[in-house]
This record gives sequence, structure tokens and C-alpha cells, in this order.
Amino acid sequence: MTGPESEGPQLRRAVCPGSFDPITNGHLDIIARASSLYDVVHVVVMINQAKQGLFTVDERIELIRQVTAEYGNVQVEAYHGLLVDYCKQRDIPAIVKGLRAVSDFDYELQMAQMNNGLSGVETLFIPTSPTYSFLSSSLVKEVATWGGDISHLVPPVVLEALKERLGKG
Ligand code: PNS
Repeated sequence: MTGPESEGPQLRRAVCPGSFDPITNGHLDIIARASSLYDVVHVVVMINQAKQGLFTVDERIELIRQVTAEYGNVQVEAYHGLLVDYCKQRDIPAIVKGLRAVSDFDYELQMAQMNNGLSGVETLFIPTSPTYSFLSSSLVKEVATWGGDISHLVPPVVLEALKERLGKG
């Protein structure tokens, strides 16, 4: 094996998990900031078969790869299962999440405590940039569906993918 994975546990590694259907500028802000704090950031599209996405998991991965290409230490993949199992299998001690508002906090705290209790993995929260504190993939999809301008909320490649998928191109 070559690259950062082969260099062992001395590298500080963290996971940024999510549905990313699709990735927004809010996600990207958190990933960029995590990439400056950790040696390797694993962006993981968590597969939820109960939820029909607008984009397939492969499409989401491809979009994330394109928009994170400038960060040399970001790896992207999908995982089906518990996030803590992903972390355990790769010996990753930390999960990084963005916190947009107090409304995020209750559920995020529950998940952080559950994940820590299950495996000892720690969750670290980064406050979302105020510019994106209202932003979610669901809202982006809803506004885009009705032809609203979301060009300031998603990277250009995601904007194009949304237009194409929603027949607005
Ligand atoms: O982008 P989302 O949908 O807010 O992300 C939520 C996600 C995917 C990070 C969360 O649901 C998750 O970690 N799912 C993986 C399954 C799991 O580990 N569930 C137990 C959480 S305590």
C-alpha cells in the first residue's frame, strides 16, 4: 500500500460522515476546515437503503471527489453499516461534524454519546460558518426543484448536476 494509509496510526485521522445528497458549500466548509486540522480526512457517504436519494451513492462520491480534489489529504468512499464500525476497521479515533444551530445539537449530542459508548470514538464539532447556518441538502433540493437560485450554496459542478437531474438545464 502506498500513500498516507501505509504510514500507520501516527497520522491524525478523522471521518466526516454524511448523506451528501448532494454535497453543499456548508459541507465543504467543514471538510476544508477538518482537512487543515487532520493529516487525513475520510469523507464517507453513509448508505441508507431506507432513503431514496436524488443522486446515487456513486454520483455523490464523484461530486465530492471533484470538489475536494484541491485538498490533498481528503479521501472519499461509501460505507454501509455503523459509522463506529467504519472507524474501528480503519483505526480512526475521531468523527468531525458541523453544527449549524442549537436545533442540530440534541440529535448530534445523542449520536456522539452513542458512538462514544459503542466504541470510544470521539466526536468533534466545528461551528458552521454563519454564511451556511441555514443550509441543508434537503433545502437546496427543494429550492432547486422550483427553479430558485442556489448558485451561492453549492459548488458549480453540483449546481450543474442538480440542473441536469431536475431537468432545469
Ligand atoms: O448528512 P446526514 O444525513 O445528517 O448524516 C447522518 C449520518 C449519516 C452521519 C448518521 O445518520 C450516521 O452516522 N449513520 C450511519 C449509521 C450509524 O452509525 N447510526 C448510528 C448513529 S448513533
